[in-house]
Amino acid sequence: MYLPFARKYRPRFFREVVGQEVPVRILRNAIRENRVAHAYLFAGPRGVGKTTVARIVAKALNCLRPEEGEPCGECDNCKEIDRGSFPDLIEMDAASNRGIDDIRALREAVSYTPIKGSYKVYIIDEAHMLTKEAFNALLKTLEEPPPRTVFILCTTEYEKIIPTILSRCQRIMFTRVNENKVVDYLKVICEKENIEFEEEALRVIASVSEGCLRDAASLLDQAVLSGGDRITVEVVEEFLGIINRAKIREFLKMLIDSRVDEAIDLLRDLYEKGYNLTKFWENLEEEVRNAILFKSLKRPESVLEDPDAYREFESYPLEALLYVENLVTRGKIEARTRTPLRAYELAVIKSLIVKEILPLSKVITAGITVKEAEEAGDSLEERIKSLLSPVAWKALESAERKEEGGKTVFLIEEDTYNTFSEEFVRVRESIPEVEFRVLKKKVSRERGTTSLF
Ligand SMILES: Nc1ncnc2c1ncn2[C@@H]1O[C@H](COP(=O)(O)OP(=O)(O)O)[C@@H](O)[C@H]1O
Ligand SMILES: [Mg+2]
Ligand SMILES: [Zn+2]
Repeated sequence: MYLPFARKYRPRFFREVVGQEVPVRILRNAIRENRVAHAYLFAGPRGVGKTTVARIVAKALNCLRPEEGEPCGECDNCKEIDRGSFPDLIEMDAASNRGIDDIRALREAVSYTPIKGSYKVYIIDEAHMLTKEAFNALLKTLEEPPPRTVFILCTTEYEKIIPTILSRCQRIMFTRVNENKVVDYLKVICEKENIEFEEEALRVIASVSEGCLRDAASLLDQAVLSGGDRITVEVVEEFLGIINRAKIREFLKMLIDSRVDEAIDLLRDLYEKGYNLTKFWENLEEEVRNAILFKSLKRPESVLEDPDAYREFESYPLEALLYVENLVTRGKIEARTRTPLRAYELAVIKSLIVKEILPLSKVITAGITVKEAEEAGDSLEERIKSLLSPVAWKALESAERKEEGGKTVFLIEEDTYNTFSEEFVRVRESIPEVEFRVLKKKVSRERGTTSLF
């Protein structure tokens, strides 16, 4: 039988409780110094240890050999409490036992002194769910608290507890547990279970658990069930349906590079695996904006949490990013009126135009910045110019040119070419990325081009 980690690793001593330092200190001291209150209200989010600590309190109060307020864990009473069969520990769930009868039963039970232990302990879970009548009955009990009886009311909704009850209880506030502590807690479980893990994977679990240890433990169960012998970020992100940021940025680059096929494949793959595409698109929007901020700000670290993650966009022109940002925003709007997958695919297809609106397509794929490209362009012209007489340069400057196979090809009228052929040959010899093509007029009626070199 598979025992979930949350059950298997439920703390049995105060010292095992993760976080909750203040509640643990207050309660342990009270027990040690024999000044336990008649009623406590444990308030705080779910899954942070309220029930767990309440049971430890019951154990510490009834332990036959307690030490410094800590139960021994070995005596009959401790063992029975751990097994859930101790007659003087009564747990009731107000969410399911909402009737007055339950409270009446409770009141009658209270009138009996402890059977086995030194204290009767009542743990009333979800205390805010008690009916008004039940509250009143409970209130009566709390007004004349029977000796050696401790009530522990637990609630996730502190505001719903009526003031008359509140005033009779000592309030103990439980808080969400700090992320690093959750990671350590998960690590301890993995080590005890001999599970291999990537620390980052545990961090992802801790982060989505938002300080709730019960959730953290159940997600770890899931990770083990879906990940086999090693818990990796990939496995965790996959079953959580989180698409990691690096992958989103990769997708963004596909859009800028107009790698439409790859981008559509990725979208479909996410869709088939059941990821939330709308969420993915939202994150994409955020990543484009971040990339734009990174490129436009002098000190991006003042607004971006992790500016280094955007260095990969350094080589892309800002125009391309702005254009893609526009596509993404429109995709989002269109996703409201058609199925998201279709809307997003359309946006991806539109990214084909990125290349066309930008005369810098070459620059984009070559990964040079706009500035560098301009400099490079200038210097090519400069270099050609320096090899030519002013007249030849004038003739060449007005000639048609195109980019082809990484070269700049000048299309020159036959007459012009013949006039300056010596100079053009010199250019062609010293600058390999330049080519000349002669536009022939006379050879045939059709205007054709012939490569000279
Ligand atoms: N502070 C904690 N330290 C260690 N484990 C915890 C803690 N809080 C919760 N857990 C884990 O979560 C499970 C549920 O905790 P529980 O005490 O029932 O939470 P609550 O009553 O606050 O909803 C426990 O069995 C335990 O495995
Ligand atoms: Mg509980
Ligand atoms: Zn004991």
